[in-house]
Amino acid sequence: MDASDIEKDLSKIHYTEDQILAKLRELAGRIERDYEGKDLLMVGVLRGAVMVMADLARSFGRHVEMDWMAISSYGSGTKSSGVVRIQKDLDTDITNRHVLIVEDIIDTGLTLSWLVSNLESRKPASLELCTAFVKPDAAKMAVPVKYVGLELPDEFVVGYGLDYAEKYRNLRCVATLAPHVYS
Ligand code: IMP
Ligand code: MG
Repeated sequence: MDASDIEKDLSKIHYTEDQILAKLRELAGRIERDYEGKDLLMVGVLRGAVMVMADLARSFGRHVEMDWMAISSYGSGTKSSGVVRIQKDLDTDITNRHVLIVEDIIDTGLTLSWLVSNLESRKPASLELCTAFVKPDAAKMAVPVKYVGLELPDEFVVGYGLDYAEKYRNLRCVATLAPHVYS
């Protein structure tokens, strides 16, 4: 779905599909160099990270394993509840594995901080974070994020995997949702 298909729902387009892909290719290049000679397991956080994972993984000229976790902190509203719950755990044993968590967006970082301590307790060989988008509040986060994509303002955005009430994930760009849609 393109922005032109749902023009009235969006108030501002922040990044086009091409801009997102260019940034992800840059991140993929760095990741490839950093993990040279090592097996890499990317852990995607469902459901938002599906698009990021697909595009990152296909940018690699090397093998990579992918697994998924589903956790919830938002429900169908627009602000973090702070309550994190595992809805689907990994199928892979990550003990002694090089793990890279792939996220769609970091806002408060509550979800990610929780996920990092959960995965650390399983004793991976290494654990790093990658996110396609970051909001200003993420700067206050205690956990360092090694691979950071594009910056967004503190607004509720949709597209490229990000939803509002499970819609807009298939929008190609990332845009601010017009307030009339959710208020
Ligand atoms: P955090 O715990 O506040 O960092 O929120 C993390 C999760 O909330 C992300 O992985 C997204 O799934 C979701 N999220 C945060 N901001 C937005 C947004 O603007 N639109 C849609 N989902 C968002
Ligand atoms: Mg997410």
